[in-house]
Amino acid sequence: MKGREVQERLYLQGLAGRRPKVPVQPEALVEAARRKLRREAWSYLMGGGGSERTVAANQAAFGRYALRPRMLGGAVPSLEVTVFGQRWSAPLLLSPIGVLELAHPQAELAVARAAASRGVPLVFSNQASYPLEVSVEVMERVRPGAPRWFQLYPSTDFRVVQSLLRRAEASGCRAVVLTVDTVQLGWRPRDLDLGYLPFLYGLGLAQYASDPVFLATLEEEGESARPPWGWGLLRSLPGLWRLGRGSLRRGQKIVRRFLATFSFPQLSWPEVRRIREATSLPLVLKGLMHPEDALSALEVGVSGIWVSNHGGRQVDGALSALEALPGIAKEVGERVPVFMDGGVRTGADLVKALALGARAVGIGRLYALALALAGAAGVEAILDYRMAELELTLALSGVTSLEGLGPHLIQPV
Ligand code: FNR
Repeated sequence: MKGREVQERLYLQGLAGRRPKVPVQPEALVEAARRKLRREAWSYLMGGGGSERTVAANQAAFGRYALRPRMLGGAVPSLEVTVFGQRWSAPLLLSPIGVLELAHPQAELAVARAAASRGVPLVFSNQASYPLEVSVEVMERVRPGAPRWFQLYPSTDFRVVQSLLRRAEASGCRAVVLTVDTVQLGWRPRDLDLGYLPFLYGLGLAQYASDPVFLATLEEEGESARPPWGWGLLRSLPGLWRLGRGSLRRGQKIVRRFLATFSFPQLSWPEVRRIREATSLPLVLKGLMHPEDALSALEVGVSGIWVSNHGGRQVDGALSALEALPGIAKEVGERVPVFMDGGVRTGADLVKALALGARAVGIGRLYALALALAGAAGVEAILDYRMAELELTLALSGVTSLEGLGPHLIQPV
């Protein structure tokens, strides 16, 4: 849909007395979702590491760059881009977000439907609420061949990594995103104060519970300490029951095995190379913030670099993703595409990130909150808003094609 059509639809709805279910103003959307979500879900989705300075910095950074619009460009730009040989409707990505069932029971199924209907790629999280294959089936029904990637967390059990890679390949994912900034969970005070980690409740573990290799390893696990008995544990039973497909014991085993193999602080460059060699798909490294790490990534032969600080959830006090972008884009040059996410709220934010060197830009929390408000329709609304605003901002800035974007359109302020 063209940017102007999205505007017209909203104005005409207003004429009929209807307001959008997903507010267009990002702040209003956040507030509406806060009112709707349970405290634990809200904290998990919105929280960040430590003082949350990096969460704030990600957003604030967009205010430090101003656009320098040109007039009379004479054309409306097309938003279409080709990445790894696949055509997307816009230079956008739905960033991988784990445990989406905290936002909506349909989780990835709803996001997959919305992504496919708009032709925007979804990066399926390793911590998804539905198995990859089930979500891909939904996508295929909406738009055969709809663009999708798979995000992988490095497990200490390489057999499971290999199995997940096979599944990503078989599911028609066009790239694997290896997230390297979360080799252990960051220090997240909101969740710590609530004592809430969704995985302990059997949430966000669907990729593991549907993986034959992971399931076969369950018996290898040694005896582990029993969790303390209490109300929290009682509340975890339904999730564990579902996860274990009707067996609490099996559900608990899946959680324990996941916890035993998830943290991988020893992950290093040779391991990244090993993962790259284990798949025929392009490997994108997500979570890089330093130009020298980008160079190391090129040395091990990655196909893409994703500048990100995990939405400020890992290293508190880290530089904003937008400020890290130009240095990395400069170092990488044209060798591989650079992606980024973190703090994106508006179409103008997208233009700035694209002008500073991103081939495509990821949105995270914003779509999870829209999902909470209106399911698949909510995510469609967010995609429509961002694409409309991106197109209008480009057109009003005299940019006639995405190729015409560059640092010359930006002025640091
Ligand atoms: C994430 N992110 C993330 N990244 C990843 O590679 N795998 C994952 O499973 C998750 N899970 C996840 C859950 C939640 C609740 C959040 C908020 C984030 C990070 C995500 O992909 C992205 O980098 C940030 O969300 C981008 O920042 P914004 O757009 O949320 O500001």
